[in-house]
This record gives sequence, C-alpha cells and structure tokens, in this order.
Amino acid sequence: MQRKWWHDKVAYQIYPKSFMDSNGDGIGDLQGIISKLDYLKDLGVDIVWLSPIYQSPLADEGYDISDYYAIDPRFGTMEDMEELIAEAKKRGMTVLMDLVVNHCSDEHEWFQKACQDPDGKYGKFFYLRDKDPDGKLPTNWRSYFGGSCWEELPGTDKLYLHVFHKKQPDLNWENPELREEVYKNIRWWMEKGIGGFRIDAIINIKKPAVFHDYPADRDDGLCTIHNMLLEAEGIGEFLGEMRDKAFAPYDAFTVGEVFNEKKNELPLFIGENGYFSTMFDFSLELYGRSEKGWFDVKRIDIDAVRDCMFGAQKKIGDIGFYSNIIENHDEPRGASRLLSDEIRNDDTKKALAAVYFLRRGLPFIYQGQEIGMENKKIRSVDELDDISSIDAYKVARNAGLTEEEALETLSFHSRDNARTPMQWSNQEHAGFSTAAPWMKENPNYVRINVQEQQGREDSVLSFYKKLVALRKDPLYKETFVYGDFEPCEGCASGVIAYLRKSAGQTILVAGNFNPNGTTLQLPKRADGETFTEGTLLLGNGKEAAVADGCVSIEGFGCAVILLKE
Ligand code: GLC
Repeated sequence: MQRKWWHDKVAYQIYPKSFMDSNGDGIGDLQGIISKLDYLKDLGVDIVWLSPIYQSPLADEGYDISDYYAIDPRFGTMEDMEELIAEAKKRGMTVLMDLVVNHCSDEHEWFQKACQDPDGKYGKFFYLRDKDPDGKLPTNWRSYFGGSCWEELPGTDKLYLHVFHKKQPDLNWENPELREEVYKNIRWWMEKGIGGFRIDAIINIKKPAVFHDYPADRDDGLCTIHNMLLEAEGIGEFLGEMRDKAFAPYDAFTVGEVFNEKKNELPLFIGENGYFSTMFDFSLELYGRSEKGWFDVKRIDIDAVRDCMFGAQKKIGDIGFYSNIIENHDEPRGASRLLSDEIRNDDTKKALAAVYFLRRGLPFIYQGQEIGMENKKIRSVDELDDISSIDAYKVARNAGLTEEEALETLSFHSRDNARTPMQWSNQEHAGFSTAAPWMKENPNYVRINVQEQQGREDSVLSFYKKLVALRKDPLYKETFVYGDFEPCEGCASGVIAYLRKSAGQTILVAGNFNPNGTTLQLPKRADGETFTEGTLLLGNGKEAAVADGCVSIEGFGCAVILLKE
C-alpha cells in the first residue's frame, strides 16, 4: 500500500455550534474553536473536521447550505475562518470542511432562481417534475427525515425532489454545469489552505435513470430511499471526475460518508487511487437498524460490538484505510450506546477507547468523546431540535408506543444526544458559554468535564492522550499504523481482543467488559511457540498479566501489551 501523510495521524470532529462560544450568544463559533486549538494540540490531534459553518438557515443545523462561499454570521466571518486555518497550521494541524453537495438549501440562490424560471438554467440544477393533475406523486420514496421526497416548487406547477428535508432540495448531478460549480467551490476552499473535506451523504448523488415506485414498507404507502440507491448505477463516473478535477490537483485529503456502497466497490472508493482517501467504517452504526424506525432498533452488546469491529477489519484487509469512529454528530454517544448501563464506567470507557482506536485505520475522536460524554435524558418532545428525531418520535407514536416509550427511544438514539454543548468545566453552562446555550447542556457536566479531568492521571481524558501518544510512538507506530490485524478467537463473552503485528513485533489490545476477571488464549508466536511474557504499554489501572500463552485481565480491565517474541 502506498504510504500517505495522513496514515499515522489522529483526527477530531468538531460540531461548531456546540463546541465553544466566544461571544456570549449561546452558539459556538470559530473564535471559540481558535481558543481551543491548544487543547486539541495537547490531545495530539492533527486533522480537525468542522461540521458545516457555511451560510445556512440551519434547518438541518448547517447541512442545508445557502452560500458555499460564505461563513454563517452565527459562526463568525471569513476572516475568522482564515485565522483558524492559519492558527491550525502554526500548530501543525490541518482543517477539513464538510462538503455537502447532494443538496443545497431552498434558500440558495440557485433554488430561488429555479422557482422563478423552472425551465431555465437553474431549473436544471434540481430534479423537477410536473405536477400530476390527479395529485399522484412522481414516486413513493420516503425522505430520510420522514414524509414524501416530493414537494411543490413554490410559485410553479412543478415538484422538486429532496431525499432529506424539504429545505434540502437535491442537486442534479447529471447536469455537467452543476458539477463544475461544485468543483469550482472545492478548488476555492483548497486555495484557502484547508487540508480537504469530509464528504456528506455522497452516495445519494446518483439516482436511477428511470424514477418509479417500489413496494411500500410502512402504512404511509411510502418506501425507503435505499431501493432507489440500490438501483442507481454509475456513481463512479461522478466521483472519479470530482477526484480528478477537484481533489487530485491539491492532493486533498477526503473522507467519505458512505453507507451503502455496493459489494466489491470498496477498492474503487478507497483503494489505490480511489475516489476518496478514506471512508468511515459505519458497521457499528448500522448494527440492528430497522426500516420500521428507531424504536425498533436492536440494542447492541459487547459481542456484537466485537463482531462489527472485526468484520470491518476483515472486509477492508489491506484494500485501504477505514476511518474508525464510535460516535459522531448523527449518532448517540458511543459510551451510552455501546456500553450498557450495568457496565458503563470510566474503566470501560477507556477499554472501549483502546479497542476501537488501535485497530487498523485512521482514528477519529468526536468532540467530548475524549472525556466520556454521555447521552442526555430527553423528557419532552419540545426539547428536541433535530428534525430526524422529531420524525422518529411521530413514527414511534404511530407504531403504538406510549409517549414515555417514544421518548425513551429518543434518549437512546436521538442525534441531539451528541449535540449538547461541550463540557469544558463545572461552571454555569458547562463553561461552553456565558449565556444559555442554544441547546441545553447535559446536566452531568458538573461531574463530566474537561477541567476536572485535565491533569488527573487516571481520567478518561488522560487515557485518550496516552492512547494518541502510543499510536504515534516511533517504537510502535509501524505496527499500529500498518501492522496486520489478527483477532483473538475464542474469548469469553464480553471480551474484545486482537493482535497487531508487524515484522518482529506483536502487540495485544484487549478489553474485558465484564465485572469479573477473564483469561484469554493468545494465538501462537510466528515460530510456533507460545507467548510467555509481555510489557504493558497502556492499561486502565486493572491487573493484566501474560503467562503460558494466556493473558488474564481483571474485571473491566484493558491492556495494550507488547508481547515478547
Ligand atoms: C449527513 C450528515 C447529517 C445530515 C445529512 C444531510 O448524514 O452527517 O447530519 O443531516 O447528511 O445532509
């Protein structure tokens, strides 16, 4: 595999609205991010991905862009953005923007012009269809955020397609003029000195040649978007063109949000000269999903976490590099979802960190994950901000759940869980803002916050710092970054263990998520002998010891052990 500058780096996702507010309006902003760059540097972060900060009505919290060349005043100015890029650079860090080009906002000039003249140039930037006199919609596709994908084009006798919210009209990628506009914007941002992009919802840009209905899968008579995605062929032409015309000239680093790639497409997406540098491994996020809605999602346990993590490693092999995550702004907190109430504590948060982070691939940390932030309790539907949560609540109620049950589902799954303000201290509003934040802070900030954990040797934050430093340690880097991944088979339930191996070096990574101790059998050494000794490189304070080809680990313990060859 060709080695790339980013392979040995660590990435961090910022959700700007909730990261740090510098001007006391309750909304996080660019100056707030600048003020925390030293914190990120200290953590060991190299690549910083910002969720969207472009001009936007924020219907989907910035994933609905009304000007791709402007910063939303709520987040700051273009000068602030330039300062952020420069200040990051000074610290050896690079900034990634979010590229949201499956759709724009209905407040974007292109859409406004399409409404004025649907048959003109900008009408062709969107998917428009004539209204049927009998009211029949062009297709029965259900938008990701609920309801039909079709909406009236204001002031006209046409409909437009939106696979997300109605304020997010889909852009017509079949139109070369639109594609050139996208590439122009990418190049413009690269010229500003960013390192590249995280690429939003990209699989949706290709639609089938013929639009038609699929069998309904709920009582609403509609069907999931996945049907049309399955039928759509030829996305590679767009992605290859975008790579060649916009990314490659700048050697941009790109990470794709790709959920539904087709079998065998992995090498095309992230293999040698793939469309993207890397893409997220979403196997944990996809686990247990149901077409019926969030209320029907199957809870995940540690054995399933292990199967997802190992399955993805097997699938990727050395085709390319996945980006590894346990949470992001669209998911509940990893500590809450992946660790059940009975086993969630600082020790298991550290164990989870070790096992996800040291797999092969580029580790991403989502803001607050490094201090073990958790889901919040959603007590009323009025508390919800996220548009998809509001729909999920309705779906759950329609399916017969009581209000309490529906809210319980949301406390577990809502995207709002990850969007509460970053918990910097135990001061009012979690040290995030001097004003009441746009979204209420999680009341547990008094206990879980950066200030309390900074400098405390056994905190979750200190553990993350050590983990980052360990992956970068010149003594072990070759193994952690490029070494093979070999699962330890036959472990007890609730244990995740694997080896990372390079020539002459074998490192065990193991987490025991059970309250009781466990002993696991190690695979044989390369010479057929058993491992009998090891050096602990990182642990969470619990006992771990190697003897006679086995490792014993105390309850809730984790261990990264250099095995003696
Ligand atoms: C992606 C984003 C999500 C957004 C959606 C539509 O999945 O991560 O937050 O709602 O795309 O842009």
